[in-house]
Amino acid sequence: MKYTIPIALAFVSATLSYAQNSASYAQGLLQALQSANLTMLASAAGNSSDLVAALQSGGNKTVLAPTNDAFAALGATPSEDLLHAIITYHVINSTVSVADVSAAGNNVSSTLLKDDDFVSLPNDRAQVVVLSKDAGNGTVLIKEASRNVTFNLTSDGPTYDNLLVQPINTVLSIPGNLSTVASSLGYSSFADAASGAQLIQTLSDAETGLTIFVPNNDAFQAAKSEMASADRSAVQNILRNHVINGTVAYSTLLTGPNAVASVVSASGNSLTFGAGSNGGLTVTSGNVTANIIRTDVLLSNGVIHVIDSVLATTTTNPEAAASAFHSATSAAAARPSAGISGSSAGSNGAVGGAVGSVALVAAAAVAGALALMS
Ligand SMILES: *[C@@H]1O[C@H](CO)[C@@H](O)[C@H](O)[C@H]1NC(C)=O
Ligand SMILES: *[C@@H]1O[C@H](CO)[C@@H](O)[C@H](O)[C@H]1NC(C)=O
Ligand SMILES: *[C@@H]1O[C@H](CO)[C@@H](O)[C@H](O)[C@H]1NC(C)=O
Ligand SMILES: *[C@@H]1O[C@H](CO)[C@@H](O)[C@H](O)[C@H]1NC(C)=O
Ligand SMILES: *[C@@H]1O[C@H](CO)[C@@H](O)[C@H](O)[C@H]1NC(C)=O
Ligand SMILES: *[C@@H]1O[C@H](CO)[C@@H](O)[C@H](O)[C@H]1NC(C)=O
Ligand SMILES: *[C@@H]1O[C@H](CO)[C@@H](O)[C@H](O)[C@H]1NC(C)=O
Ligand SMILES: *[C@@H]1O[C@H](CO)[C@@H](O)[C@H](O)[C@H]1NC(C)=O
Ligand SMILES: *[C@@H]1O[C@H](CO)[C@@H](O)[C@H](O)[C@H]1NC(C)=O
Ligand SMILES: *[C@@H]1O[C@H](CO)[C@@H](O)[C@H](O)[C@H]1NC(C)=O
Ligand SMILES: *[C@@H]1O[C@H](CO)[C@@H](O)[C@H](O)[C@H]1NC(C)=O
Repeated sequence: MKYTIPIALAFVSATLSYAQNSASYAQGLLQALQSANLTMLASAAGNSSDLVAALQSGGNKTVLAPTNDAFAALGATPSEDLLHAIITYHVINSTVSVADVSAAGNNVSSTLLKDDDFVSLPNDRAQVVVLSKDAGNGTVLIKEASRNVTFNLTSDGPTYDNLLVQPINTVLSIPGNLSTVASSLGYSSFADAASGAQLIQTLSDAETGLTIFVPNNDAFQAAKSEMASADRSAVQNILRNHVINGTVAYSTLLTGPNAVASVVSASGNSLTFGAGSNGGLTVTSGNVTANIIRTDVLLSNGVIHVIDSVLATTTTNPEAAASAFHSATSAAAARPSAGISGSSAGSNGAVGGAVGSVALVAAAAVAGALALMS
């Protein structure tokens, strides 16, 4: 009993000093945003004490700050929940200065958006943004499915405390589900085939993360007769062969010294990565090698890479597929900062076979590489 009062007092004083810190931080942040003419962001963020707290805690961050013109172009003010999600998607959880971004590839950086109404990634990870640079004029680009959003400046914006503010010319869109994203890419054939095979809901609802190699419409056109002669379960097998189940493999995991060479698809076949003749990447399944013609198109629950051939393998190995899924999700769950999602079921050894062990090694490698991110 006698400890109760001191503890309560300590708590009150900690809360007060936090509130004061946080009020002066909010004040300073607002002034910094206002003096950079980012008054609409100042008003939107400054009104939310938990947004200010999220900005203040957890180290250095980059605020992708839509200009007033960009906010004005949104038209109607979004609902409070949506606005909150949008703003957290505009905060990168590290310092990204213009000089750090290269024209040679994509930089995939984690934001603060974790709200599960908008994001389902393995291990409760936050949604990412994909950054690159225009080789011609040095402008940093944020790559979305159907457009590039550009940094307003070619040098770094203002800083405040732990924040680097980079003005951008458009309000970012939070990545959507497979049907929405495939149609905004203009690649409707994959989504249509997945709907026809009753796989679209499975892919859209997957909560443990996916990588999907989406063939473009020309690729489907070229595979038309093969697809037409396949029954529903064969089409499902073909489509599952384009999916890595339980793993979100951004391009940064498929290139560089620690690149993953091979994974097991959701149909249980192995997908092998290689270097293409045009400097890009290829993915091979059986006797088909496709070029990856576009990388890192974001989904609410994973990532799409666009390819130029259908990986039309109809064979399936459900045990290898299940094994790959379990090792991916249990490896994700075993990360040091293990979060909420990720199945730790069946740590796999029992499901034997050469493909199974490839799955295990590849999934563990991907999970290990992912643990280095964020
Ligand atoms: C802010 O806007 C004012 C008035 O339009 C202008 O004079 C000033 O240069 C702008 N400041 C910055 C940092 O863009
Ligand atoms: C924030 O609060 C101010 C003052 O109460 C108000 O004028 C402004 O419209 C609010 N902004 C948003 C985005 O709700
Ligand atoms: C945050 O950024 C400041 C200024 O650039 C730097 O001095 C500091 O080391 C950074 N902190 C962390 C934890 O990276
Ligand atoms: C992206 O840029 C940040 C900031 O420079 C850097 O820390 C990170 O390693 C980069 N990530 C990749 C995948 O290039
Ligand atoms: C941001 O990064 C810090 C460490 O750098 C981490 O503790 C925190 O969980 C991250 N925030 C989010 C929303 O992922
Ligand atoms: C740089 O090029 C991009 C196209 O990639 C364009 O949208 C942008 O306006 C250009 N920026 C400048 C400062 O010229
Ligand atoms: C975005 O920028 C990249 C690199 O400059 C370019 O290849 C691509 O076509 C652009 N995308 C759109 C939709 O403009
Ligand atoms: C964005 O760029 C435009 C045109 O270059 C400029 O007028 C405006 O002041 C810039 N806004 C910010 C917030 O930097
Ligand atoms: C995809 O998202 C859109 C827009 O939120 C929604 O209308 C649609 O039902 C979703 N599709 C699936 C298959 O979940
Ligand atoms: C991913 O694996 C889980 C568990 O085995 C399964 O329920 C789900 O249908 C699989 N997803 C796909 C696209 O095959
Ligand atoms: C590729 O393999 C499939 C069987 O998996 C076969 O039907 C097809 O003819 C082969 N194509 C070529 C070009 O060898």
